[in-house]
Amino acid sequence: MSTNRRIAVLVGSLRSQSINRRLALALERLAPHHSFRPIAIDTIPLYNQDREADPPAEVVRLKQTIEACDALLFVTPEYNRSIPGVLKNAIDTASRPYGKNSFAGKPAGVIGTSSGAVGTALAQQHLRNILAYLDVPTMGQPEAFIQYSDGLIDDSGQVTKEATAKFLQTWVDKYLAWIEHIVTRGAAPK
Ligand code: FNR
Repeated sequence: MSTNRRIAVLVGSLRSQSINRRLALALERLAPHHSFRPIAIDTIPLYNQDREADPPAEVVRLKQTIEACDALLFVTPEYNRSIPGVLKNAIDTASRPYGKNSFAGKPAGVIGTSSGAVGTALAQQHLRNILAYLDVPTMGQPEAFIQYSDGLIDDSGQVTKEATAKFLQTWVDKYLAWIEHIVTRGAAPK
C-alpha cells in the first residue's frame, strides 16, 4: 500500500447535483487510504492581473491549499467542447503570479463524465494542454471518458454498475501509482 497522499480535487462544476462531483466522490471511495481535499472554486474572484500584488484571502487560501497537497485530481464536465470557465478561472488564478505557479510539478489525473458517448474527451484534451504548459505531469493512460446514465453513481459516490466500478478502480490504482512514481522519482529537473 502506498503512503497516504494529500490530493487536491478540482471539480469543474458548481451545480448542486453535479454528476462530476459524484464521480469525484466515487474516486475518493475507491482510494480509502488517501486524503482528498475538495478545492472550492466558486468563491474565487474572476482573475484580474491588477490584483496579483494584493490578492484577496480566497486566492491566498486557494494557492496555499494546492501547495500543501502532493497531487491533483481534475474531474471536469465538458462545456462547448472545452472546460468550464469556472475551472479555467481557478487554474489561471492559482498559476500566478509569474514564477509562483502553485501546480508546478504535482502529479495529476484528468477524468470527467457526461451523458454523451465521447463526452468530456475534448474538454480533457484542452485541459491536458493547459496542464502541460503549467509543468504538471499528467497521467496519460488509461484515459477515462465516463458516459453517465441515470443512477450510475449515487449521492454518496457509490457506483451502481459493476463494470464501471471495476474500470474506475483500475483507473484509481494506476493514478495512485502515477502519484508515487512522480513524488518519489521526481518530475523533470527545473
Ligand atoms: C453542456 N454539456 C455538454 N456535454 C458534452 O458532452 N459536451 C459539451 O460540449 C457540452 N456542452 C455544454 C455546455 C454548457 C454550457 C452546459 C451547461 C452543458 C452537457 C453537460 O455534459 C451536462 O450538463 C453535465 O451534467 C454537466 O456536468 P455536471 O455539472 O453535472 O457535473
